[in-house]
Amino acid sequence: ITATLGDGPLKGRHVLVTSGPTHEPIDPVRYIANRSSGAQGAALAAALRDLGARVSFVTGPASVPPPPGVEVHRVETAQQMLDAALAALPADAAICAAAVADWRVANAGAQKMKKGASGLPVLEFAENPDILATLSAHARRPALVVGFAAETETVEAHATAKRARKGCDWIVANDVSAHTGIMGGAENAVTLITEEGADPWPRLPKTEVARRLALRIAEAFA
Ligand code: CTP
Ligand code: CA
Repeated sequence: ITATLGDGPLKGRHVLVTSGPTHEPIDPVRYIANRSSGAQGAALAAALRDLGARVSFVTGPASVPPPPGVEVHRVETAQQMLDAALAALPADAAICAAAVADWRVANAGAQKMKKGASGLPVLEFAENPDILATLSAHARRPALVVGFAAETETVEAHATAKRARKGCDWIVANDVSAHTGIMGGAENAVTLITEEGADPWPRLPKTEVARRLALRIAEAFA
């Protein structure tokens, strides 16, 4: 039996999910980006859909396709992702799973940069807007705002500080240091940081992390 859209504990709830990397142009043919397949965000959107939520899925150029049955908003840059996220409000919950580039190139070229006489290019950067922090402080703040924190050291301490700094309710923290093999893999080992503290989950397939997180979100709205 397939669940009909709108059935389940998140029936009638609207959830915003950001996912994938952003691409920040250097010139028309080059960009800078974070490493992100978009797999965890896509799995999360599918899990929320399966619990009956209406899902607005704002995605950068990910390698994993968006799941069926969600409203897909494709963007490229962090600024476009922020605009699309704000346009999706109001929402009951927002889950920021995107790997947003922290900086964009301030002196991006309108034409393709050429090798040669003028020497090596020098890129200047400007800080991108913080989508998670903006949503957390917004006048139409979703009741539940969840961020991710990919860390390579002292994961729990960094993620707990990040939760406070961003003003979000939960942080899903994970250790992406090389030895874990998490980056680009099918599994994830996360620690859920809430007001109550840190709850380390076992290493699980990303789809199972998504299912558990969606269930926790449903509980928060029960
Ligand atoms: N995030 C965001 N917009 C940004 C940067 C980050 O929405 N411009 C969100 C991510 O989607 C994630 C959370 O913020 O949910 C944490 O991202 P992370 O890169 O770990 O945090 P930063 O605040 O950027 O700190 P740093 O990269 O310096 O560790
Ligand atoms: Ca960052």
